[in-house]
Amino acid sequence: MHKFATACVMLLILAGAAPLILDRPARAAEDGYRNTPLTLEGIGKSYMGRDIPYIMGHEGADWLERRERGEEEGTARLIPMLKLKPTDVVADIGAGTGYFTFRLAGEVPEGKVYAVDVQPEMLDRIRARIQTNKTRNVEPVHGSIASPRLPSNTVDLMLLVDAYHEFALPREMATAMVWSLKPGGRLALVEYRGEDQNVPIKSLHKMTVEQARRELEPLGLKFVSVNSTALPRQHLMIFEKPRPE
Ligand SMILES: C[S@@+](CC[C@H](N)C(=O)[O-])C[C@H]1O[C@@H](n2cnc3c(N)ncnc32)[C@H](O)[C@@H]1O
Repeated sequence: MHKFATACVMLLILAGAAPLILDRPARAAEDGYRNTPLTLEGIGKSYMGRDIPYIMGHEGADWLERRERGEEEGTARLIPMLKLKPTDVVADIGAGTGYFTFRLAGEVPEGKVYAVDVQPEMLDRIRARIQTNKTRNVEPVHGSIASPRLPSNTVDLMLLVDAYHEFALPREMATAMVWSLKPGGRLALVEYRGEDQNVPIKSLHKMTVEQARRELEPLGLKFVSVNSTALPRQHLMIFEKPRPE
């Protein structure tokens, strides 16, 4: 039987036809990615069971600066919770218009803030604001979808507000972020609470704590804490790059 099957395959190859490989196992998603049906909101890919949405385009940037945002998201409460030191090097990953970048910059007068985004139009807005405010400690960085393109072992705190869930390549981004964090450096993940039906945001733009841990812990980040009550709609999750033993 085995010889017969081999002979059939050989015949097909000699005849120029591609052999039909029966009972081939479904492609194993060792890296966590899977193709999913395209929808209006999703990019047609999931990571560790979570559907990935399209990024928020720069055309909607004014929404990030809306007047009601402070109250809706309790944004003024977030920065003190990060407990920054004046000398800290901070990275605002997925900085958008810089809503948090400039608030962070005021907290680290002897340090600096990298404002990282993949959309050049967002970085243009940040550059304009640097000029207007004469800010000296903000550096815009044009990241790629796979990396924030920051130097290794340099960042004390990375802040990701409503950004991580949009990453098209979360695994690659997280790996690169770990590379750029100092040992003992922290990653602060702020995401709309996926467990809470009352948070009025589409499900693809929310995350559960369980999912965030599932995605980040295997890549070298230690889960430190979560605060799900301080902000009206979001979790503040803190992860840390462990120091070498
Ligand atoms: C919903 S906005 C949030 C902006 C900002 N953090 C805020 O809260 O105002 C998400 C931002 O993440 C950016 N983004 C998406 N994928 C990215 C990636 N892989 N690297 C850097 N920025 C990314 C988008 O371009 C967008 O500006």
